[in-house]
Amino acid sequence: MILFSGLGSENLANGVASKAIMESGRIEIKKFPDGEFYIRILSDVRGKDCTIIKSTDSNDSLIELFLILDAIKDMGAGRISAIVPYLGYARQDKRFKEGESLSAKTILGLIKKFSDSIMTVNCHFLHSSGESEFQGIKIRNLDAFPLLTNYFMGKLKDPFILAPDKGSIGLAKKTSEIIGCEFDFINKIRISGEDVMMETKEMDLKNRDVIILDDIISTGGTIIQAANFARANKARTVNVGCVHGIFSRGVDKLNSVADEIVCTDTIRRDISRVSVADLIAGELQEQE
Ligand code: R5P
Repeated sequence: MILFSGLGSENLANGVASKAIMESGRIEIKKFPDGEFYIRILSDVRGKDCTIIKSTDSNDSLIELFLILDAIKDMGAGRISAIVPYLGYARQDKRFKEGESLSAKTILGLIKKFSDSIMTVNCHFLHSSGESEFQGIKIRNLDAFPLLTNYFMGKLKDPFILAPDKGSIGLAKKTSEIIGCEFDFINKIRISGEDVMMETKEMDLKNRDVIILDDIISTGGTIIQAANFARANKARTVNVGCVHGIFSRGVDKLNSVADEIVCTDTIRRDISRVSVADLIAGELQEQE
């Protein structure tokens, strides 16, 4: 098995390759002055099973992934597996208004067109780990929340898990059971793609070390409002963990409301203090 990486996922791919003892694929990726990609597969992939690790956190990254997968296929590879640690466009898995594109279906359909299997980490619209099917496409979904829970375990004096919206209640409950502490949620009202507000609610957080967990931080609006809520309710510290750190508005504002923010390396950031390399490597080894 040869393991290739797209831009931005190199560290994670190296971690996976060393843990799962796989050959690292050689690839040349450049950009033309007009922004188009140049991709060249340098390893001999003929008849060999190939895996590519590449998160799709931008439109560019999608094109890059499709070009790599198709080039590997053209070069005569055997089975091709796409590992997309952060799967973009997964927040539009339903048609909320007539005529909307089902982006998750389109993107997954395209990845499937170029590969034989798809693996991802905490896909936004999947609520359990393991094998799932969406619109006739099989997806293996891995869960990185136990890794984030381990990160905070034993670090804080009086932990309290706060779910920043109703969608995270299940996760907050599970995490609180592992850590052995209380949890609660606040109700998020989304005003626009960029702005959210939290419904008022009584919650005694005095001197508690609040942990807010979410799958994705995009603009940071959700976490900022949840952190403000925790502070207003007298939390001692506010600690934030997410699997996918998009941080489309940077982390400065988040840093000003939280004591610590940590994300995994599904998208490589300076605060990627939790790695999903073992999780992915373990899954690959199990499949062998
Ligand atoms: C929403 O359902 C997700 O779980 C996140 O809460 C959301 O994507 C965060 O977005 P933002 O950081 O822009 O508030």
